[in-house]
Amino acid sequence: MCSPPHPNFLLLITNSPLPSYFRTGLYKAPLPLITGKEAAGTVAAAHPSVASRFPEGTRVGYLADHAYAALTAVPAARVIPLPDGVTTKQAASSLLQGLTALTFIREAAGLANSVPQGGGPWVLVHAAAGGVGTWFVQVLSAMGARVIGTASSPEKCEVARGNGAGWTVNSREDVVAKVKEITGGEGVDVIFDGVGKATFDGDLEMVRRKGTVVMVGNAVSTHPYGLRGHAC
Ligand SMILES: NC(=O)c1ccc[n+]([C@@H]2O[C@H](COP(=O)([O-])OP(=O)(O)OC[C@H]3O[C@@H](n4cnc5c(N)ncnc54)[C@H](OP(=O)(O)O)[C@@H]3O)[C@@H](O)[C@H]2O)c1
Repeated sequence: MCSPPHPNFLLLITNSPLPSYFRTGLYKAPLPLITGKEAAGTVAAAHPSVASRFPEGTRVGYLADHAYAALTAVPAARVIPLPDGVTTKQAASSLLQGLTALTFIREAAGLANSVPQGGGPWVLVHAAAGGVGTWFVQVLSAMGARVIGTASSPEKCEVARGNGAGWTVNSREDVVAKVKEITGGEGVDVIFDGVGKATFDGDLEMVRRKGTVVMVGNAVSTHPYGLRGHAC
């Protein structure tokens, strides 16, 4: 039985991925912890102040703490109704990744919403077939950037090309040499790096003068040079 929500709150039946960094302890949080950072689901109950906008059964997505739960109470202002073309599972698994990519593209790298088609900036996306990498490649290529993706297998490189990367480099090869070759020796304008320690030194060799390296995470391990937890 659902409890009535607080004013302006919705009670949601949720579908949330489990954030592994909190589970492994890489990201610290006070215990006991209900983990979860993003979810999608359906409205189980709504406070009368927001019920007309969110009738029971409305499918929604949201970013909020403690989302890894069967039922979650969330302020209506933080909830996004889902359009018909987006399934609940798609929303649950892609909100944080997609918004991460958009934020880093616009606010960290300062890339505009549209750049000249075909002549846009050279951008290198590491782990281009991973979750966040997939978003980077799609958004950047749609903007008109010249996207080079790295991935650890031919199959993953194919995925990155299918998502819009104009060039791919197998990350088991000499990535620095290949990227220099692709860019005529200039290097790239922007690098989005979610791998971390294993790729950072190479980034400094592949980025062009006055270019930008954006560290978006640490898939391998924490960053070198004390950069853990910061976008730089
Ligand atoms: N998921 C999010 O919402 C989110 C939000 C903010 C930041 N981030 C950061 O973005 C990065 C990627 O996250 P993700 O969610 O896209 O992860 P993911 O889907 O698991 O992708 C990670 C990719 O990193 C590559 N990789 C290279 N070395 C690895 C290693 N030792 N262990 C695991 N993966 C390795 C793999 O691609 P290859 O096999 O092609 O090398 C893998 O596909 C992480 O640094 C994460 O902290 C993620």
